[in-house]
Amino acid sequence: MAGRIPRDFIDDLIARTDIVDIVDSRVKLKKAGKNYQACCPFHNEKSPSFTVSAEKQFYHCFGCGEHGNALSFIMEFDRLEFVEAIEELASFHAIDVPREQSIQPFNKAASQEKKQQRENDYELMEKAAKFFQHQLKHHANSSKVISYLKDRGLSGEIVKSWEMGYAPAEWQGLADALGKTPEQAQQCVDLKIMTQNDNGKRFDFFRDRLMFPIRDKRGRVIGFGGRVIDPEQSPKYLNSPETRIFFKGSELYGLYRARNMQRHIDRIIVVEGYMDVVALSQFDINYAVASLGTATTPEHVQLMLRNTDEIVCCYDGDKAGRGAAWRTMENALPMLKDGKSMKFMFLPDGEDPDTMVRQIGKTALEEQFVQAMPLSQFLFDNLLQRHNVASVEGKAALRAEAQPIIASVAGDIQKEILQGELSKLLGDYDRYQLDRDINRANQHSTKMPKPSSNAPQKLSQTPVRMLIQLLIDNPQLAHQVPQVNPQALAEAQLPGLVFLIELHQFCHHQPGLNTAAVFEHFRHHEFAGHLQTLLAQEWLVDDADKKMVYVSTFKRLVDQFLAGQSDALIAKSRHVGLTAEEKITLQKLLMKK
Ligand code: UTP
Ligand code: MN
Repeated sequence: MAGRIPRDFIDDLIARTDIVDIVDSRVKLKKAGKNYQACCPFHNEKSPSFTVSAEKQFYHCFGCGEHGNALSFIMEFDRLEFVEAIEELASFHAIDVPREQSIQPFNKAASQEKKQQRENDYELMEKAAKFFQHQLKHHANSSKVISYLKDRGLSGEIVKSWEMGYAPAEWQGLADALGKTPEQAQQCVDLKIMTQNDNGKRFDFFRDRLMFPIRDKRGRVIGFGGRVIDPEQSPKYLNSPETRIFFKGSELYGLYRARNMQRHIDRIIVVEGYMDVVALSQFDINYAVASLGTATTPEHVQLMLRNTDEIVCCYDGDKAGRGAAWRTMENALPMLKDGKSMKFMFLPDGEDPDTMVRQIGKTALEEQFVQAMPLSQFLFDNLLQRHNVASVEGKAALRAEAQPIIASVAGDIQKEILQGELSKLLGDYDRYQLDRDINRANQHSTKMPKPSSNAPQKLSQTPVRMLIQLLIDNPQLAHQVPQVNPQALAEAQLPGLVFLIELHQFCHHQPGLNTAAVFEHFRHHEFAGHLQTLLAQEWLVDDADKKMVYVSTFKRLVDQFLAGQSDALIAKSRHVGLTAEEKITLQKLLMKK
């Protein structure tokens, strides 16, 4: 495991970044007053409500509530994970990402070495892809392979666009080209493009096959799929086994290209085969992906839902296809936030998306995607095949099976809808008890933790929240207005106060930080969710009035606190009397009032 990325480095990275450059390189910005504007890249809109503030180094969309700093923007726009986004931003500045040292002092060197090796690995795989592509044109078997491609109805343009290639029939084709030195050969073996037998002899892993390079979500070649050309050979498809850079459960064939082909992916189609993905793209359906000879994992679903709101899973209509669909559904439910949906499409016997699109064409097939079976229908159709709701026992069994499934759904609204469906089916079943059972099942659910909903909630305005909002929006207030020190209220037990104090101290000790930097510091804080919500709310205070509002809000809080204290002392004096010290305190309190 690589060490943590040092906090200071991230803070520096944010500080040296101009969010305007980052956003502008991806979405053309227009100057509007002291801010910049564009149509929001995160939702469809005609007039711009997406604003970037150079001063705060923050973006905010008044339409959909998306907001954040440069790093958040890269994560959302490039669909990268936190660490990947840091790497992206660092490479923008042409600097390396340092890692904190773990216990062993040699770890830094080791991790540096690992990183170097990974880069070499990607480079080698890229070379292998190029090698196969070259063979497709120049190998002695070239005409045989090309006529196979033609027979399958693939255009030269599409073959090129997917970088398809040919693995030569010789045992030493790739080995001669890329495995010349023992080190190179070993690396090829490690990456499973060469094999070593028990006698130590090394040879090509893929032979006489049509090659599909597999690119990861960042576009690096990490593995290959190879199809036989000669139908007598088997297996029909040979896929790279997993290696130190290839993890099947978290990559999808075609996703990288799909993302490059369109900014917004309205819908992703999951199909079974490489050929299906390729054939669909020839018919201008550039949003199909295939898992790599494995089942669709929760990670796959999550990855797709980062890129689209709707997934349509295409399966064979047979028993195996329905079984696979059911497992996919189970894996998807914990990822299905409100606003995200999954549908199912079952193909006629003997057909696959490749044959379908050739038969009925793009428009008709896309119509079928739209008409695909909603998840709720698939779920209950299946359950009703297994349970007979005409009997009491059948109802009980249906309930027992459906409850944990429904409880695993991430989105509250979706859960509610499925609950409603279930209670309809159960007819006489008492709704209250259903809710209770589902809550209980929820508590016992051992499924993946629910990702929190993105929908901006509203928090009611309290003085503490107001101060937090003003402070994150204008961190320099912590300096400019020394009379506001929430530490003075440390004894007051107000919700959010502990965080306010922490935020204030941070801003106070780090003068010169802007909203983006402060936001970054608290990204993983337990209060981060609330901070996000507060940031998503519109800033109602006019710039000119911010200081005044900040001071008076604080004053109101102090007054409340003091009033509470004096009330408590007065009450005490009535019942048990006050000590001399308490009497003085009370006098002071009353005078302040
Ligand atoms: P299919 O057998 O349905 O093949 O396998 P296909 O995609 O329709 O391919 P064509 O049209 O005959 O060329 C679907 C997927 O299952 C995996 C591959 O990922 C393939 O794309 N598979 C299939 C294997 O891994 N090995 C095999 O031997 C067969
Ligand atoms: Mn096929």
